[in-house]
Amino acid sequence: MDRKDFNKELNPTSIKDFVKRMGPLVKPYWFRTTLGILLTIPGGALDGAVAMFLKYYVDNVVVAKNADWAGYIPLLIILFTVVQGVLNFSSAYFNTWVGTKITTDLKKKLYQKLLTFDPGFFDTHNSGDVVYRFYNDADTASTTLIGSVKEFLTRLFSSIGLVFVMLYNSWQLTIIAVVVMGAAVLPTQYVRNKIKKITPKIVTSGSDVITSYNETCNGYKTITSYNLQKYQMDKQFGMLNDLFSLTMKMFKHTNWLSPVMHIIISFGVAGVIWYGNNLIIKGTITSGNFASFIAALLMLYTPIKSIGNKFIDIQKAFLAIERVFEMLNFKPDIKDPANAKEIDGIKEAIEFDNVVFEYKKGVPVLKDISLKVPVGKTIALVGNSGGGKTTFVNLLPRFYDVTGGSIKIDGIDVKDMSLQSLRRQIAVVFQDNFLFSGTIKENIMIGNPKATEEDLKQAIKSAHLEDFISTLKDGINTYIGERGVMLSGGQKQRVAIARAFLKQAPLVILDEATSALDNKSEAIVQKAIDNLMKDRTVFVIAHRLSTIQNADKIIVINEGRIAESGTHDELMQKGNGAYKALYNAQFKHKKQDNGEKDEKQK
Ligand SMILES: Nc1ncnc2c1ncn2[C@@H]1O[C@H](COP(=O)(O)OP(=O)(O)OP(=O)(O)O)[C@@H](O)[C@H]1O
Ligand SMILES: [Mg+2]
Repeated sequence: MDRKDFNKELNPTSIKDFVKRMGPLVKPYWFRTTLGILLTIPGGALDGAVAMFLKYYVDNVVVAKNADWAGYIPLLIILFTVVQGVLNFSSAYFNTWVGTKITTDLKKKLYQKLLTFDPGFFDTHNSGDVVYRFYNDADTASTTLIGSVKEFLTRLFSSIGLVFVMLYNSWQLTIIAVVVMGAAVLPTQYVRNKIKKITPKIVTSGSDVITSYNETCNGYKTITSYNLQKYQMDKQFGMLNDLFSLTMKMFKHTNWLSPVMHIIISFGVAGVIWYGNNLIIKGTITSGNFASFIAALLMLYTPIKSIGNKFIDIQKAFLAIERVFEMLNFKPDIKDPANAKEIDGIKEAIEFDNVVFEYKKGVPVLKDISLKVPVGKTIALVGNSGGGKTTFVNLLPRFYDVTGGSIKIDGIDVKDMSLQSLRRQIAVVFQDNFLFSGTIKENIMIGNPKATEEDLKQAIKSAHLEDFISTLKDGINTYIGERGVMLSGGQKQRVAIARAFLKQAPLVILDEATSALDNKSEAIVQKAIDNLMKDRTVFVIAHRLSTIQNADKIIVINEGRIAESGTHDELMQKGNGAYKALYNAQFKHKKQDNGEKDEKQK
């Protein structure tokens, strides 16, 4: 499936698709499922028994005044109710067990799937949509359906029992009852179509609400600093109101069904009573027959009245299944090829061969990039903002795949390697590093969960984190909050560097690793970075050119092309080169800064 197909207009499933999709999920629990279903049979059929006994009660006690029956019947009613209660509980237990188990299995599968998505997936998809599939759809899919199937089966068996009781009492009245019931069910087709149309809108609207709610949590500081409370509130309220309108629209289009069915059914009840009176008077049936028939009829009709709501639930569950399976069947663009090659280390070189890259079709962000980097060399990428530096390095670990050309490590196309082995060779320190809620230690150990205490100590030392950690009461076990909010920008960056250290990968990518720092901490982080770069092949992106002067090769990327390349000295010799211009501009700033400081000191 193409990425663009994700979240396409979904058609809620048919019963056949439902069986095809849910069948394999139910299969491991077939015994409990069958038990749950079997237990609904006697529970449902007992409705009929209760109605049946009413005949004997009326005929023998009410009409014939037979005292023996009078004693038994109340006892029997209690006995039946107790048996029915135990059966209902047991079947509900097994159904809930199976339903919840399947929900859990689905959620595990969904999460597993989520971890295979391309990093670029979220460029074009809402987090709310994916969260909604996990939280709402997986639950709705199995729990509602299992509940509805159970309800349906109970009703079915109860209806069969009741229809037998009705037939026993009077076949003529049964015909009236069944014909009217058929008429009452007719309008459901119209309602089903409406539900099919509105349900997807409700789901999309619901996931928009979640996305915006998530954004509010994550962007809380921005919201407060720009006084966006009112703006955000209007946005969120708008979405909630849309959701409200849709829910009411659904109600209007569907819930007239219950009263209409009720009215049609009342014709049935009226017809039965009218015709039943005639039959009693003619002596075709007894009063007991009639009382029993009416009791059965009322029990039969009661569930039909709520059929409208049931339809909505089932249709929602069908759509939920579609959405869950759309995610489960989603084929990420970036995945292991067949016969993936395992690589172990980098021996010779990394080569970019006429690389072209487009985020959006027809809009190249990188154009014809060719570059050979021998192992152990440091390549610095500089250039205008938005020129394509981050994009360039993102292609190495295959966060995105090249649109044209190829990237090879030791002559093997990265697309032919197993993703795990490729990414094992690369340690990335991003422009914005993500820290997990947890401790400093946990965040560093991500680099290599098998690292020894000694390795960890060394990584902390090399990342120049020692002094900082020694000031903390809990040291390395200090909790750093969600996304590492309790750390400063420079501290976060050093944790990310320590993590990269621990990974001991032969290829290191540093994207603006010192951007968040003042001069003093930059010097510290720079030392950490220098340590990290030792004996590795390095791609380093920097805006401050002073930090990359010693690189083996400096590449200027402007508007997606290599504008210039060479060592610092070579590039500085070019008369009006791009690098020289960048360098002079920064150097001038620095001089001015220092000049101002000198003035102040005087
Ligand atoms: N995920 C994305 N989807 C679509 N376009 C993107 C995406 N990421 C970046 N771009 C676009 O690609 C171009 C190159 O971006 P890139 O982040 O590679 O620039 P950069 O050289 O790293 O800039 P900076 O120095 O500001 O970090 C920009 O025009 C940007 O708008
Ligand atoms: Mg960048």
